Amino acid sequence: MSAIFQKAYTFFSSLPIPRTRIDGWRILVTGANTGLGFEAAKHFARQGASVILACRSRDKALNAKAQIDALLGLSPGIVRVSIVDMESFDSIKNFASSVGPLDGIVLNAGIASGVWNVTGDGWERTLQVNVLGTALLGRLLLPRALERRKGAAGTGVVPTISIVSSQMYQFAEFERYIKIEGNIVKALNDENSFGMGDRYVMAPRSCFCGSFCNYPIRSTMLIKSKSDLMTPRRYSMTKLLTIYIARELAALVPKASDGNPIVIVNCVS
Ligand SMILES: NC(=O)c1ccc[n+]([C@@H]2O[C@H](COP(=O)([O-])OP(=O)(O)OC[C@H]3O[C@@H](n4cnc5c(N)ncnc54)[C@H](OP(=O)(O)O)[C@@H]3O)[C@@H](O)[C@H]2O)c1
Repeated sequence: MSAIFQKAYTFFSSLPIPRTRIDGWRILVTGANTGLGFEAAKHFARQGASVILACRSRDKALNAKAQIDALLGLSPGIVRVSIVDMESFDSIKNFASSVGPLDGIVLNAGIASGVWNVTGDGWERTLQVNVLGTALLGRLLLPRALERRKGAAGTGVVPTISIVSSQMYQFAEFERYIKIEGNIVKALNDENSFGMGDRYVMAPRSCFCGSFCNYPIRSTMLIKSKSDLMTPRRYSMTKLLTIYIARELAALVPKASDGNPIVIVNCVS
């Protein structure tokens, strides 16, 4: 019961604005022109960091930069704009090769597409943006965080890679889809086998209340149409996979002499 009160308090109270100074840190945020990415970039800049807004649209990114600069009264070089399209492996590789050492990497760009769309690389769009592109960019940028750690030796700064997942990962029907192809990525990339099942789906393991408050209520979620069904199924599975990406990336990070990783990899939801 205390969990419900705790969550209700969080829901109705304002979140504190982070005040810790992080002057001189270099932080990259993907999908920073709007939504959560924009808000995160704004907080980092307010705290003193140099921020790279990594977006797919130059116009949208410049507009976001102008808003942050004006709001915080920043000089032009603090917030910078860089272009990356998370649904193109080439774009990700080009982008990653242009980035210097980083203290913070927020892999935030994500979509929840309700329609079937295949990228130029041959993958379903949600799968490529949320999972494959995010994994590739995280892997390519890990050396930039490790590099930064060397440069920051003795300062106590531990570079961090944060992947934005979602509480929706709780709805992922892993067992169901692993049975289809024996390979979850293949199943997600198959229009016929993913998300086009029953007209109504029962989700007895969790409910939206469970997602919101983590309270172990078991209930049934009814989704009425095929497209309604497809989006949350696919999205929740991709968000579960982002957690696995974080675990795999974390496993690549060397440990310091005290046994702690020299770069932190985490997921936020
Ligand atoms: N909002 C929520 O309640 C919530 C909850 C949990 C987790 N999340 C996760 O948080 C992240 C941000 O969500 P949001 O609500 O802030 O979404 P949003 O407002 O739709 O922003 C998504 C961002 O991702 C960018 N993006 C999409 N496709 C891209 C691509 N191919 N290449 C580069 N950037 C791309 C978008 O760019 P454009 O503007 O150019 O499309 C936009 O900047 C997502 O990963 C989402 O899954 C959201």
